[in-house]
Amino acid sequence: MLNNIKQPSNNFIFHLLRVLVLILLFQIAKSQDNIPTASSPKYKKGMVVCATPYAAQVGLDILKKGGNVIDAAVAVQFALQVTHPEAGNIGGGGLMVYRAANGTTKTLDFREKAPANSNANMYLDSTGKVIPDLSLNTRKASGVPGSVDGMATAHKKLGSLKWAELIQPAIDLARKGFKISKRLANDLNRTKSDFVKNNQQNAYLINENGWKEGDLLVQEDLAKTLELIRDKGRDGFYSGPVANLIVKEMKSGNGIITNADLENYHSVWRNAITGDYKKYHIITMPPPSSGGVALLQLLQSVKKYPLIKWGFNSDSTVQVMVEAERRVYADRSKYLGDPDFFKVPVDSLINPQYNQKRMENFDWNAATLSSAILPGIVAGYESDQTTHYSIVDGEGNAVSITTTLNDTFGSKVFVGGAGFLLNDEMDDFSIKPGVPNMYGLVGGKANSIEPGKRMLSSMTPTIVEKDGKLFMVVGTPGGSTIITSVFQTILNVIEFNFDMQQAVDAKKFHHQWLPDVVTIEKGALQENCKNILISKGYKLVEKGAIGRVDAILITNDGYYQGGADPRGDDTKLGW
Ligand code: GLY
Repeated sequence: MLNNIKQPSNNFIFHLLRVLVLILLFQIAKSQDNIPTASSPKYKKGMVVCATPYAAQVGLDILKKGGNVIDAAVAVQFALQVTHPEAGNIGGGGLMVYRAANGTTKTLDFREKAPANSNANMYLDSTGKVIPDLSLNTRKASGVPGSVDGMATAHKKLGSLKWAELIQPAIDLARKGFKISKRLANDLNRTKSDFVKNNQQNAYLINENGWKEGDLLVQEDLAKTLELIRDKGRDGFYSGPVANLIVKEMKSGNGIITNADLENYHSVWRNAITGDYKKYHIITMPPPSSGGVALLQLLQSVKKYPLIKWGFNSDSTVQVMVEAERRVYADRSKYLGDPDFFKVPVDSLINPQYNQKRMENFDWNAATLSSAILPGIVAGYESDQTTHYSIVDGEGNAVSITTTLNDTFGSKVFVGGAGFLLNDEMDDFSIKPGVPNMYGLVGGKANSIEPGKRMLSSMTPTIVEKDGKLFMVVGTPGGSTIITSVFQTILNVIEFNFDMQQAVDAKKFHHQWLPDVVTIEKGALQENCKNILISKGYKLVEKGAIGRVDAILITNDGYYQGGADPRGDDTKLGW
């Protein structure tokens, strides 16, 4: 019997050993690969990560009912209007990057537009000086809102459940009320004097005794507005009673939005811009976002440096990233604006050779002076308050959406009788090209005010693929820090092996060319690293919090791993 068994030849043993060695090498490579395996609990049917637990629950419920990622996004968007009034958002606008499970991509631009009666000098006095606060805390500060049209447009093309079903949860939250968090109570109390100053009536977000955690916030006027949107779609907002209330509110002050502006508002489908970083493919937002272009530039700029060897937030890593940021933000100030009005040289800007060349003139021994990089043209001011949500459904469709009112609570102007706040997005334009605005900053012609034009944004909703498959959905609020927060979160995962939550939690830093300072979150850098950077001439300034990233990672075994930012009330829910 034994004789019948063929003894392995030496050749066969050699091949067997070779295969075993190859398997071993593959396993080692895999263990060093930077896709973490799923943490518990394991979710594969869908995940929502957004700014409030209420909105996250609404989104998850829609996914569980069989809704797709766009259905969930619409429901989350309206639920954020109710539960996150600081930034959510029917009085504002936003940007969306979508990737279908089959790999096709789309972006939707529902950014606000300058009203027809706007002009380049509208925030200047008769001597040509900027009138303080006019582009921020007044009726004149608002661009024509885009969010309701954006949601209706996305739903029409890609949604599957009935529109009314998606709006109803927000109506219920507005009518029955919800318990506010400590953070929202503090934000509302801090803004009370602005609410009082800017509104004669219907100051529904004011509590004379001060808000506290757990108070019920009921918004009946908003519930009625949402019912009109539920029943009439975009027309429930852009014409009829709500539109008339917006125009009435404009006329009660110095506002310029007309019924025609509202009726004429339409969001725009645009092709995503893309780029490669090592084995990853980045799908992100084209202009009027500056964020997508800048993100691709930053990744190209640092690509050739051994960040993984230097380590997370080491002095060399920080120095290279800061020098890349300095150069990219200098470009941003000059070349970025609304592509429907200004020819933005996107291909040249995101070209890998261009960005690598830009890095050739930095000196390891001393910080580059920002004044030595394209002097005299500076980015426009952008505030920190915006919101982001990331959603993936069970099919593997993904959406990354960032929306904004600009400042916290926008212009602080309520639309009387309609129960929502208006944006102060006009301040994202260069309100006086070439001359410093009230923040000491100036901007270029690309982003000057023109009727019907969209103001430049830093919002950077982004989706990352690996090997042609969905890998990460990411974005954040944070004004000009949005771009650098998304940049760092991506690198935290793909260079430093953080899981999604660790990448979001990680302390961040930021440089935006001018002012020539490195803003750092407390605890972001070790003392030794700070001392080395200071000795090279970098000015470090500490800030409370940078970014509020909400992101989803697809693990190597196909599960959804969320990262909800602890800097806010952000929540991740999956099933
Ligand atoms: N308002 C902030 C931004 O759009 O970047």
